[in-house]
Amino acid sequence: MTYDIRAQGILIIDFGSQYTQLIARRVRAIGVYCEIHPYDINNNTLQDLAPRGIILTGGPESVNTTLAPQVSQLVFDLGIPVLGICYGMQTMAIQMGGQVMASEQREFGFAEVTLVGIENFLSGIKDHIKTDGSQTLDVWMSHGDQVTELPLGFELIASTKNAPIAAMACKTKNFYGLQFHPEVTHTRQGSQILERFIIDICQCEQHWTTTNIITNAIANVRAQVGTDRVLLGLSGGVDSSVVATLLHHAIGDRLICVFVDHGLLRQGEADEVMDQFVTHMGVQVIQVNAAQLFLDKLIGITDAEAKRKVIGSTFIEVFDAKAQQLKDIKWLAQGTIYPDIIESAAASTGKAHVIKSHHNVGGLPDDMTLQLVEPLRELFKDEVRQLGLELGLPYTMVYRHPFPGPGLSVRILGEVKPKYVQILRQADAIFIEELHQADWYHKVNQAFVVFLPVKSVGVVGDGRRYQYVVSLRAIETIDFMTARWAHLPYELLEKVSNRIINEIEHISRVTYDVSSKPPSTIEWE
Ligand code: XMP
Repeated sequence: MTYDIRAQGILIIDFGSQYTQLIARRVRAIGVYCEIHPYDINNNTLQDLAPRGIILTGGPESVNTTLAPQVSQLVFDLGIPVLGICYGMQTMAIQMGGQVMASEQREFGFAEVTLVGIENFLSGIKDHIKTDGSQTLDVWMSHGDQVTELPLGFELIASTKNAPIAAMACKTKNFYGLQFHPEVTHTRQGSQILERFIIDICQCEQHWTTTNIITNAIANVRAQVGTDRVLLGLSGGVDSSVVATLLHHAIGDRLICVFVDHGLLRQGEADEVMDQFVTHMGVQVIQVNAAQLFLDKLIGITDAEAKRKVIGSTFIEVFDAKAQQLKDIKWLAQGTIYPDIIESAAASTGKAHVIKSHHNVGGLPDDMTLQLVEPLRELFKDEVRQLGLELGLPYTMVYRHPFPGPGLSVRILGEVKPKYVQILRQADAIFIEELHQADWYHKVNQAFVVFLPVKSVGVVGDGRRYQYVVSLRAIETIDFMTARWAHLPYELLEKVSNRIINEIEHISRVTYDVSSKPPSTIEWE
């Protein structure tokens, strides 16, 4: 390959918008590489990145407060196109000498913007033509402030009733501002607007394709590890499965996977993982059956965070012991993906609030001397999935619901007992099977059963049954940060409930969790 598929991409400067990652995914979907950096990105990094264009995101602040975040003046001096969205437009206006004021009416939701002028950034992009010949766009607004005076050299290109300056442009410098959000799907022509900026204005080339990403990743891994052997903790989740597949393509037998079965996996999961990777793909996988060890260590532990910690440290202990037995290994592969990098950067700057410590199997032991290989660290989850499919992983594996590292342990409230694990596994398998059967599995983003260690009375036949309670949980979400409980059909819930109670003698009652996130979390612990 003669070109770098990351070169000449888009730099996204983040002011804390809830849509920042969405903007990045839209840019990538257009076939152009982009990176997200915080608004206080320093000038050297800015110059080293050498982007073809910059997008300034929205954000929760008001530009008129004393400590309002601003970007370095260099952003406007580099001589490259800049697109400001919402707060990004407002800071561009203020930093270039315009004015921003609080709107009389805050605008949230749909708005119709009317295009102003004929030849400009938005021309040719429209949803409707009105009887008076004016062209309009259906867009998504979410703002309290608005630009009230254009900076010198800017012209008005669109307005709404509430925001007379809804879009602005400085043609000579290729600076553009949009008060609305082109990244959300509610803005119907959003992708076209972003494409106008990225392809027509910034003249980026569309090198960021799945095939190119794979070719590039394989070449990079080969260059990085040479003839060394690489160790990977395979969990069966999407990320580690895609890493295993990619590395197998890149270095074949020099990839050694260790699959630790902690006894808290879903029904049939361990066999599925071994079948796929060993039988179908010929990957070297060492399976470690450590269920008893994990269950022993969990005895008497009832606190959710304590359970996570025990599982995390036991995993490392088991994984490490296996790794020590393997000689001549210099590299440890991990399925880190781009949101992990963005979120851990936010956490380290104190910009994120930790609600649960997410312990993932595959965590890096502190005293390990292995160097890291992270071939997915620039990719979003949807890109990882595309890679998986293109590399030949089955759809069912690539699109399976996420499963927490600590497994079923966080779906058994309180102490984890082998009997509870067995009951939960059976109930969960029934729920998932019925979701597939009813064609609902892929309509929800995560679904599972939670075991409640309390007993309730039921009647089976003529007898009284005093047994455990389970709850079904199914959610719809885009980013797993917020979620809505899925409105599953009553008939489906009824069927699942009947099957669980009839087929599992230790369950006398099935409930459905109708809590959204926030305030509840997706998992119960
Ligand atoms: P919560 O429960 O925080 O879950 O709303 C959000 C998403 O994260 C998953 N989750 C975990 N994943 N280790 C993981 O790898 C964990 O300890 C963990 N806890 C929650 C959860 O399944 C959901 O997809």
